[in-house]
Amino acid sequence: MSANTPPVLEIRDLHKAYGTLEVLKGVSVSAQAGDVVSLIGSSGSGKSTLLRCANLLEDSQQGEILFCGEPVTWKGSAMSRHPADHAQVTRIRTNLSMVFQQFNLWAHMTILQNVMEAPVTVLGEDRAVVETRARALLDKVGIGDKCDVYPAQMSGGQQQRAAIARALCMEPKALLFDEPTSALDPELEQEVVKVIKDLAAEGRTMIIVTHDMRLAADVSDHVIFLHQGKIEEEGAPAELFGAPKTERLQQFLSATVPA
Ligand SMILES: Nc1ncnc2c1ncn2[C@@H]1O[C@H](COP(=O)(O)OP(=O)(O)OP(=O)(O)O)[C@@H](O)[C@H]1O
Ligand SMILES: [Mg+2]
Repeated sequence: MSANTPPVLEIRDLHKAYGTLEVLKGVSVSAQAGDVVSLIGSSGSGKSTLLRCANLLEDSQQGEILFCGEPVTWKGSAMSRHPADHAQVTRIRTNLSMVFQQFNLWAHMTILQNVMEAPVTVLGEDRAVVETRARALLDKVGIGDKCDVYPAQMSGGQQQRAAIARALCMEPKALLFDEPTSALDPELEQEVVKVIKDLAAEGRTMIIVTHDMRLAADVSDHVIFLHQGKIEEEGAPAELFGAPKTERLQQFLSATVPA
């Protein structure tokens, strides 16, 4: 990647509070094209909030968010700061597709309809073109035979793979995963881990919040340990997991049972 290509996503000194509760206290994260960045940290450290601020599902009060070098434009300040440009919000949100812990598939739609819905309705793409892409993506994640079933008829691992296909069908610049394997039994978890590893090997840009330290160690270029809304330590996975410097990270890792 050329040195002057801007990161796909850059977050600078982001601050976010819910009322008087300061959740993010100046967090900076950057992901170049092809980077896999993992966010780890205790429950309540602000990991989900950071992802939700990054794709503008939540407002933040201070700091900058840049998408492919383009800064989010804001109106107002502090607690009344909001994105100023709706078209920009849509552009950024559709390019940073989220995958959630609870899959969030639409229960009343078949798997194929779930995968096709946003490209057709949000991006206005041709239905036949989207259907071809959706079927290919469902094949790729190993559930090409499930196009016509409803989410409730599938295992959690299959539902999560469908949710990943749905995110990919938007042809986003990056994928944001919020604990994609935490709701799954261990054997189903591995199906999803394999898909995420395949995506990493393909050079997809991904930011992954996870409690699975083995996944973070295996797929990441960079790991960030959040503690109480601040980055306590960050670095390459070998450094962070092999030789954690701060006592907080040492404690966190020793309390985390390896997968
Ligand atoms: N909508 C909200 N309103 C008020 N407080 C919130 C809201 N969402 C999150 N919080 C608070 O913000 C803090 C950070 O929450 P967040 O969900 O980002 O943590 P997390 O690191 O993702 O935790 P977990 O590992 O449990 O998912 C917590 O104290 C949480 O209670
Ligand atoms: Mg969370």
